[in-house]
Amino acid sequence: MGSPAFPPAPRTRQLAVDIFSEDMQAGQQLYAENCAACHNADGTGGIGANLHHIGTTTSLRQTESLIKNPIGVVMPRFYPATLSDVQVRQVSEYLRTTFH
Ligand code: HEC
Repeated sequence: MGSPAFPPAPRTRQLAVDIFSEDMQAGQQLYAENCAACHNADGTGGIGANLHHIGTTTSLRQTESLIKNPIGVVMPRFYPATLSDVQVRQVSEYLRTTFH
């Protein structure tokens, strides 16, 4: 088989990494500011649910929906007053990639 016919150009790959880490950093900060008090800095929960299953049991869209429309009475509604669409996406990506 050998190597793939069209390996990604290094520049494209680097760009993808840069965008990825920008969103991750934003997500991390948003999580620390808005979520960690209840869900714990490491996502293991406390007042809020343990979030370690989120990346494997839900899709990205479902994660966003859980944040946009909290099911219980304890978790505040952050969207759209506190977190924009993009910010909900960033914090979702962050917790889906970080906690598992
Ligand atoms: C005041 C405490 C509190 C804060 C702040 C909070 N949550 Fe929650 N969260 C909860 C509780 C409690 C639940 C469980 C459902 C319920 O009772 O509302 C929950 C549920 C969730 C769920 C669904 C978990 C599941 O297994 O269904 C996700 C995802 C989530 N929170 C993410 C976040 C994110 C992201 C933030 C920050 C933007 C946040 N939460 C901030 C308390 C909180």
